[in-house]
Amino acid sequence: EAELIHKFKGISFTTRSSPELLNSLDTFDAREDDVLLVSYPKSGTHWLAGVITKLYNTPVTLTTPIELGDMSKLEELNQLSSKRIIPTHLDYNMLPQHFKNKKCKMIYISRNPKDTAVSMYHYYRENPNLPTVDTWTAFLDLFLEGDVVCGSWFDHFLSWEEHKNDKNILFLFYEDMKKKYKNFILPVSQNLSKIVKEISIFLGISISDEDIQDICKKSSFSEMKKDTEKENSDPSHTVCALTSNRNLIFRKGTVGDWKNHFTPKQNLRFDEVFSEKMKLSKMAKYLTY
Ligand code: PPS
Repeated sequence: EAELIHKFKGISFTTRSSPELLNSLDTFDAREDDVLLVSYPKSGTHWLAGVITKLYNTPVTLTTPIELGDMSKLEELNQLSSKRIIPTHLDYNMLPQHFKNKKCKMIYISRNPKDTAVSMYHYYRENPNLPTVDTWTAFLDLFLEGDVVCGSWFDHFLSWEEHKNDKNILFLFYEDMKKKYKNFILPVSQNLSKIVKEISIFLGISISDEDIQDICKKSSFSEMKKDTEKENSDPSHTVCALTSNRNLIFRKGTVGDWKNHFTPKQNLRFDEVFSEKMKLSKMAKYLTY
């Protein structure tokens, strides 16, 4: 296990992210038209990547995550001639400085951390690049302590929330892309289509309502999972540095699966940690239920 994980600036990465690469990210040359797709793991990154790539009517390249690979990564991205959509699970502080200087557009997606924890637990069980965890209970302890890959969910979210009002940053929630979350009474496709519209405006892409509906249809969980199984999409391309196997990504795709995993006691404990860590957050109310 020791060789699967290493720490960089206190945060756990898999050996798929070399220390040399992590250490030289600040030398990375951003371009003004780069778009970053940012998330803590298991928050809906692939879903969002599916939507975004379908929005463009000009050629774009969805790259592999910036933190994946070794020193050759920087050169590889440098050599791309098309517009780059760059995914990353890095927290704000670790993001290469040039993306911030150039005010590149960044889309941050987050999800109820209880569902994120459950999704990540299953990922730990299935993904050979991650250490073994024996039980859900043991994993939940690690998650709440922030002792998992990509670090603490709380630190990640808070580092990005600080910038949520920056003009070049769009903040999205997984639950908003699904149906009927709290006040959201719109049917699925309508709700997703509102978000797709919002993304298109943010990215400066004009698109018809009909095309938006089409994107929503093609981006449903079942369609995306089916595409992966039929290998319509490159099966060895993911937007998560923790695996290249797309088959590990589409598990259940629902809101509230945490209720099938948490005991009442675990839920209370989670809520306690959550309110303590998030006491300064203005968005905390959007994230749990
Ligand atoms: S990764 O590997 O960290 O980048 O994972 P990420 O893509 O961020 O999140 C994976 C979870 O998102 C679910 N998913 C979807 N939900 C709804 N609709 C669509 N189209 C969709 N695509 C992926 C996926 O099933 C994972 O959540 P869980 O709860 O494990 O099913």
